[in-house]
Amino acid sequence: MFRRWLLGFLVLGVAGVLGFMAFAWRPAMAPIETPAPNAFAPELVAKGKVLAEAGNCASCHTAEGQPRFAGGHVFHTPFGILHSTNITPDPETGIGRWSETAFARAMREGVARDGSHLFPAFPFDHFTKLTDADIKALYAYLMTLAPASARRMPNDLLFPFDIRALQAAWKALYLDQGAFRPNPARSEEWNRGAYLVEGLTHCGACHTPRNVLGAEQTGHPYAGSLVDGWVPPALDLSASPARWTKEELVTFLRGGTTVRGRAVGSMGPVIKALAALPDSDIQAIAAYFIDFNRPLNPTPEDATVKALRAAAGKGVPMTVWKREPRRFRGEQLYVTACGSCHDNGGSTPVATRSELALSTALWQRSPHNFINIVLDGVGSPDDAPGPMMPPFRNALSDRDIAEIADYLRRTRVGEPLWPFFGQAVQTMRSQPRSWPVLR
Ligand code: HEC
Ligand code: HEC
Ligand code: HEC
Repeated sequence: MFRRWLLGFLVLGVAGVLGFMAFAWRPAMAPIETPAPNAFAPELVAKGKVLAEAGNCASCHTAEGQPRFAGGHVFHTPFGILHSTNITPDPETGIGRWSETAFARAMREGVARDGSHLFPAFPFDHFTKLTDADIKALYAYLMTLAPASARRMPNDLLFPFDIRALQAAWKALYLDQGAFRPNPARSEEWNRGAYLVEGLTHCGACHTPRNVLGAEQTGHPYAGSLVDGWVPPALDLSASPARWTKEELVTFLRGGTTVRGRAVGSMGPVIKALAALPDSDIQAIAAYFIDFNRPLNPTPEDATVKALRAAAGKGVPMTVWKREPRRFRGEQLYVTACGSCHDNGGSTPVATRSELALSTALWQRSPHNFINIVLDGVGSPDDAPGPMMPPFRNALSDRDIAEIADYLRRTRVGEPLWPFFGQAVQTMRSQPRSWPVLR
């Protein structure tokens, strides 16, 4: 009896494995002769260049100091270390032997030319939304790049996440394959914004929370996440009391400084990538987001913002200093280390002196962005001369940072210091990063 059971289980097991292998199998696509760069119309190549820039392909496919698009960028993911690949048309180490069909399959289904499944660190779950015409243009552009010889580097992923075939199951669960379908009930601008956001510029890859298997939680779009030690804030609900207006969002996405600061951390390269798009596209992206961004605070924005600014300008009264010496030291440190750049004295806000009372980093439920900013500073856009913030990593102790944070949280937000703040500073000082922090 027992042996029959065992045999039954074995047969079922083998059938299951074979069945899964058949389900996960994808055919290899025949290699082609690398097309000559002049095989593509110059307008198509120019269009592809804009798309490649805006899609931020180079940012993920370039290793520090190496040729652009030649791969080798190191990703520190929750599942281990992954490297990006060479997408220059080098026939041996790049995609020189990929046909346009093979390239389109990679973009839409996350399958390489040899039939192996690609990991979703490559945001094919967004690129699947691209139109055929845009994929064609991207292919044309990549095929006209100078070929660079750079072999794929071995990954170091945890078992069983290193098994590519298992991605077939992931895709069955989470990949909504197919080009973007416009919503006829919405304006042309809104649909253009939705197309760019959901597809090419893949905003949700960072701003939408992920589940334990690393898939975006589609039920909570743009509700904020945690990527590479940064918290891409919720874009559906503003953490800062200042509600986004369309104009402000456009200024922010164009790399400018708004009343609540400018893009920092991993948002920096996104802004550089978006620079390739015309103003009309940035307006469209803003139109799409404004649609579902709600204010945190239901009171009329002006009143809240004015009250906050007024409170921010005032010092701490003497009686409080005596009662709360810690808060006193926090203010002292703030005035000396930060105030020269950040204090607006309660008057109208100066964009280059961002008003910390409105900073998302200070209002967010998690302290990550605040800590990153204080530890590593904020570079000026494109390293051009302009206002920047120096790193305080070596100038301030963990305790100093906690005291400043405590003071700012209480006076600007009206909340106590974040819980486990000291631990968070310690962890973040040494966390390995996929992207250099100071840009
Ligand atoms: C967020 C990072 C990221 C972005 C942005 C990104 N890629 Fe990738 N891409 C990857 C990673 C990582 C891999 C390797 C995945 C793997 O090994 O399974 C990859 C793989 C690929 C592959 C398969 C190559 C091969 O040899 O198997 C192609 C083609 C590709 N990307 C094209 C693009 C294009 C075109 C863009 C821009 C429109 C782009 N990628 C943007 C991370 C990215
Ligand atoms: C030399 C000037 C300078 C000093 C000193 C300085 N900052 Fe900054 N800070 C900046 C600039 C410039 C930015 C980026 C532009 C912006 O956000 O307006 C910035 C941005 C920030 C932000 C992000 C605002 C946002 O949401 O975009 C925070 C938080 C911050 N600083 C906190 C501090 C703290 C805390 C200190 C003291 C430990 C400090 N800064 C010291 C110049 C400075
Ligand atoms: C590579 C990850 C990444 C991608 C992709 C990304 N973001 Fe961000 N974003 C961040 C991070 C991290 C922050 C927090 C730092 C900051 O405020 O600049 C941020 C901040 C923002 C903010 C400021 C929010 C606030 O309340 O202060 C806006 C608005 C924003 N992103 C919009 C977008 C849009 C639109 C896209 C797509 C075009 C996008 N992001 C794509 C990582 C990303």
